[in-house]
Amino acid sequence: MQTDRLCDTYTLNTYARFPVEFVRGAGATLYDTEGKAYVDFTSGIGVSSLGYGNTAHAQAIAEQAQQLCHTSNLYYTPRVGEAAKLLCEKSGYAGVFFCNSGAEANEAAIKIARKYSFDRYGEGRNVIVTLTNSFHGRTVTTLAATGQDHFHQFFMPFTEGFRTVPVGHAPALKEALQSNDVCAVMLEPVQGEGGVYPLDTRYLFEVEKMCRERDVLIIADEVQTGVGRTGTFLASHALPIEPQLVTLAKGLGGGLPIGAVLCSQQTKDVLGRGDHGSTFGGNPVCCAAACSVMEQLDESLLDEVKMKGEYMHCEIKTWRLPCMKAVRGAGLMRGIVLDGAVKARRVAELCLQKGLVILTAGNNTVRMLPPLVITMDEIDQGLRALRLALEEAAAESEQTEEKEK
Ligand SMILES: Cc1ncc(COP(=O)(O)O)c(C=O)c1O
Repeated sequence: MQTDRLCDTYTLNTYARFPVEFVRGAGATLYDTEGKAYVDFTSGIGVSSLGYGNTAHAQAIAEQAQQLCHTSNLYYTPRVGEAAKLLCEKSGYAGVFFCNSGAEANEAAIKIARKYSFDRYGEGRNVIVTLTNSFHGRTVTTLAATGQDHFHQFFMPFTEGFRTVPVGHAPALKEALQSNDVCAVMLEPVQGEGGVYPLDTRYLFEVEKMCRERDVLIIADEVQTGVGRTGTFLASHALPIEPQLVTLAKGLGGGLPIGAVLCSQQTKDVLGRGDHGSTFGGNPVCCAAACSVMEQLDESLLDEVKMKGEYMHCEIKTWRLPCMKAVRGAGLMRGIVLDGAVKARRVAELCLQKGLVILTAGNNTVRMLPPLVITMDEIDQGLRALRLALEEAAAESEQTEEKEK
């Protein structure tokens, strides 16, 4: 039986998979079973930051796998300490907790924020404020944190202690902080799943001020924006906030599952022995992969990310297609908001036919998260396919409207 049939038969039906099977990749190009090439504007949803077939990355993983895959966090292993040191040096934070995914990193950050507040102020100051349109993960707690109603179905009861306020609205946050029961505000510097929506810098300035005045922690969910995605190691490095907790995952391992919580001096010692843990967290093979990503993510690569992201943004803006309502994002995290008639999923299907893999965010945003190492030629090739796909999708939707009249 073919692999796609096997997946359809034996895995749960939780993903709307596209009809393609990838077998290998090189740089920012993927190849399917027929040998057809596709430019990758997804990096596996922001994960394959170094693209595919990166020799140093593959070697680091292979060497560590041959030496030692796992011993548990009861013992020391070299790559774990090295990965934590590199993370602290690159981010400016004081300590790291390793886990395996973005949702787990957020869970850990929530626990740290609540315990920080408990240690200082006692019980009852445990609410985490989150923003509308946000996305923080799929566990029962991180779904509760996620500020989109359609995620709050079926799985009740969700974890208590979350309050959602309208994104970008400082007075609403001020009001939410009045009740003195809030220990943290959790936000994505650029909301990814919510439509590639960068938070306003003036708003972030206000958030920082209000939180600082009340000793309310800021948790920056940089699961999608972190590790170079927006052109700085952390997106928050370029913003007027100083989060005490930052969560990472996705791009950190360049393709292997690893998540991390970065803690400032203020939050580094909140958790003690036995307060939290993860069997696989800080697995030596994943840490070797993360070290390789961070070693390659130098200033010159970060500059390229900024430059290539600007290039994509400017090129797309010159198209001025009637179906495009807005182009937004930062670095190599970009979105095109479509008018209601053209569906993002249809654009992604047409892109696939034209040799481009691309993401969506909701029904009306086309989302681009290419590998950080994508070349200018690959960008141009991908943009050509994207423009054609947008034009075709718009024409299709016009025809449908005509018929319905
Ligand atoms: C901002 C943000 N936080 C958390 C998550 C959850 O990450 P994971 O799927 O690794 O649990 C995601 C995933 O898309 C995300 O974009």
